[in-house]
Amino acid sequence: MTNPLSLTSTVRLNNNVEMPVFGLGTFESEQGKTTRDAVLWALEAGYRHIDTAAIYRNEQDVGAAIRASGIPRVEIFVTTKLWNREQQYDAALRAFDQSLARLGMDYIDLYLIHWPVPPYRADAWRALCHLYEQGRCRTIGMSNYTIRHLKEVLADSPLVPAVNQFELSPFLTRTALVDFCCQKGIQVESYSPLARGAKLGDPTVVAVAKQHGKTAAQVLIRWTLQKGYVVIPKSVNRARIIENASVFDFSLTQKDVTILDGLNEDFRTIRPGFMQGEWD
Ligand SMILES: NC(=O)c1ccc[n+]([C@@H]2O[C@H](COP(=O)([O-])OP(=O)(O)OC[C@H]3O[C@@H](n4cnc5c(N)ncnc54)[C@H](OP(=O)(O)O)[C@@H]3O)[C@@H](O)[C@H]2O)c1
Repeated sequence: MTNPLSLTSTVRLNNNVEMPVFGLGTFESEQGKTTRDAVLWALEAGYRHIDTAAIYRNEQDVGAAIRASGIPRVEIFVTTKLWNREQQYDAALRAFDQSLARLGMDYIDLYLIHWPVPPYRADAWRALCHLYEQGRCRTIGMSNYTIRHLKEVLADSPLVPAVNQFELSPFLTRTALVDFCCQKGIQVESYSPLARGAKLGDPTVVAVAKQHGKTAAQVLIRWTLQKGYVVIPKSVNRARIIENASVFDFSLTQKDVTILDGLNEDFRTIRPGFMQGEWD
């Protein structure tokens, strides 16, 4: 990672692609003007990385906003994800084409398998490897994969996923999974870094924020960056989009980080039934 951290800092992935460490999330960002405005405001504020997914139904608006920004496509890192129903090999290839068409792009920077759903996840990974080998996405990876799922992929594939995107915050530190990803050269990407707003009143976070003259959201985002994770906080509110990006003018001390690490309570905001009992 470049040092010191800035809004345009990148991390080099295991295939040498540079991924911006900070981006905009768009889960539950409504299709239409809401998403187009959010993406445009983020790009105006200096974001250069947008995370979407087929299931968010806003890829079209993400693509439209990127084009409207006038910023060259190559300067923006775009992630999208393969949805669960489309993991059979041919369906996955078709789904990729449909995502590209909705985005109005001719390549994706990072294509992820959204969830490790049985029984076709091996098929889905084969499809992503094929797309990568064809040069249609610059890099490929997983989302919501546990150690067990990652081991299954690594045992069967010469290609190591570049990224695993999963829920992570001081309230859900998942150290075994993080350590496993680091050992294997898989970049950790944190989603729901703000615990979807549920922990912004936490007294410890609020106290750390006060010491730095920052907001609780900014402290949670900064913690994630200082841990070395890529982070994609979501907002559709212009002021909050700017607030979330204003995390490069202060640092948490090692003591702050240790205090925040101590908040883990395995607090999840997202827990689908099919993952029952296999979270780490
Ligand atoms: N791979 C997966 O399965 C998966 C799952 C979940 C999320 N993700 C990705 O990760 C992104 C981030 O996660 P997330 O959207 O679940 O949650 P999040 O970023 O932790 O939190 C988003 C929520 O916090 C609010 N918010 C944002 N900034 C704020 C601030 N400064 N102060 C107060 N409230 C604030 C947002 O409301 P407003 O919009 O009204 O500001 C929204 O309700 C997603 O958007 C998506 O791209 C991926």
